[in-house]
Parts: sequence; structure tokens; C-alpha cells
Amino acid sequence: MRAAVAGWHAAGEKVGLVPTMGALHEGHIALVREAQRHARRVIVSIFVNPTQFAPHEDFKKYPRTFDDDCAQLVAAGADAVFFPPVEEMYPAGFATRVLLLGPAAVGLDDRFRPTHFEGVATVCCKLFTQSQADFAVFGEKDYQQLKVVTRMAADLDLGIEIVPLATFREPDGLAMSSRNRYLSPEHRALAPLLHQVMQALATRIRNRDELFRAVAEAQGEIIAAGFELDYLEARHAQTLAPVTSLADGPIRLLVAARIGATRLIDNIAV
Ligand code: PAF
Repeated sequence: MRAAVAGWHAAGEKVGLVPTMGALHEGHIALVREAQRHARRVIVSIFVNPTQFAPHEDFKKYPRTFDDDCAQLVAAGADAVFFPPVEEMYPAGFATRVLLLGPAAVGLDDRFRPTHFEGVATVCCKLFTQSQADFAVFGEKDYQQLKVVTRMAADLDLGIEIVPLATFREPDGLAMSSRNRYLSPEHRALAPLLHQVMQALATRIRNRDELFRAVAEAQGEIIAAGFELDYLEARHAQTLAPVTSLADGPIRLLVAARIGATRLIDNIAV
């Protein structure tokens, strides 16, 4: 990959990276298209990264659909797929993690997945330095991840720009995710409720309803619909610090909830 990228750079071509864990859907292809808007060359990495899964999480059953992923990437005109084996990314003796503060320690997903972001940051740091790409595109769907990776790339002078892209949604509003394929038909029918509740909450906050009460009622609606709610919170859109009113700055609403064995996350701007 280094040799390919060096050749492209020598020819004056910009190189974009789209990091993924495979199981590609239209949302990932939108990331590829966004990268193509900024660069002549686009690499897509496919790596189900073990360090970002806790022992009880879905690493083993995470969908692996390499042939289908490649077919989609060929159709989208990606230039290269980087598909390293686990032993190459984490050879015996590997003993390094990126230690994160700031947006990785705000009590959102980090509260429920305490080792997740250090795994994400470690693999992203490796992918960025391995690829030497000029920029990497990340979806806003994983909003806290986007903030963590953006912070890390700047703090560690990784020389890569992080380009965000708005969440791609199904027609009924459900944020696209590789994990949506775990949903039973009944749970799939229920899933868009998360987005609906957040949209209604955003409207209430914009209309200057009392924030604390509006959030609490939205939390109640999600629980009443049968979800197990990890969190639904209003946070500062940049720092992810808690906010108490619209006056505290641009607000982002973030949610994580489980139906059955599937954990869904989503977020929207107010
Ligand atoms: O968002 C994902 O798919 C993963 O967390 C990423 C960024 C590819 C790192 O493994």
C-alpha cells in the first residue's frame, strides 16, 4: 500500500482513505464517493478490528462479506482495498494503545464500551500511518468516534485531515449500519423510532422547550417503545460536554439503545 501511495503522490495525485470494517452498505459507498470528490485516488480498508470489541461483544459474529464488499467497491470505482490479516496488524508482542482524553471521556459510548475508543484510535493511527493518505473520511453516524479520531489526528500530528460526512439513512430514517442486518423484522420495524424521537426532541429544543424535561420525556418514549436505553443526551456539538440550554452552544443529540441483542446508535444536530 505504501508503494502504491508513494507512486500516486509522486504523480501529484491526492489520496483519500475510507476506513471500514467491511459489511459495506450504501452509507460506506457514500464515504467512498465523498473521498472521490476530494482526491484522484481512494483506498478502502476492510479490517474487523479486534481491539475495539470487548470480550462479550460481537467480534466473532460481526458480518464478514469480503466478496460482496469488493464488488461494491469495484462498482464505485475505488482504487485499492487494504485487507490486512489480524496477525499483520497485531503481531505477537504488540503492546501499544493510544490513550485518549477529551471527547473519548465524556460519559457517552465510553461509559458503556470503556475500551472501545482506544481500540478504534489505535487501529486508525496505524491505518493513517500505514497508508500515508492525505485525508480520511468518517461518517457522522459514529459521532463520538469522529470527534475522537479528529482530535487524535490533530494532537499526534498525524498529517492527515479528517473529513466528516453526514449520516446516510434508510427511507424511514433509520441510520444505515452494518449491524442493522442483525435486526429481526419486528425490531427492524421499531428501529426508526429512535430517529423520529430525536427529530421531535430537536424541534422542541429549537422551540426553547425546557431542555432537561424535553430530554427526559424523549428518553421515556424510547423506553416505553421497548428499547433498553443506554443514553439519550444533549451535548455540545464540538466538545461533547453536557449542555443545559440552547444558549450553551451548538447542540448535538446522541442516542444509544438496544433492541433484542442489537445495539443501535444515532445522533442529529439541533
Ligand atoms: O467505524 C468503523 O467502522 C470502525 O470503528 C473503524 C473506523 C473502521 C475503525 O475500526
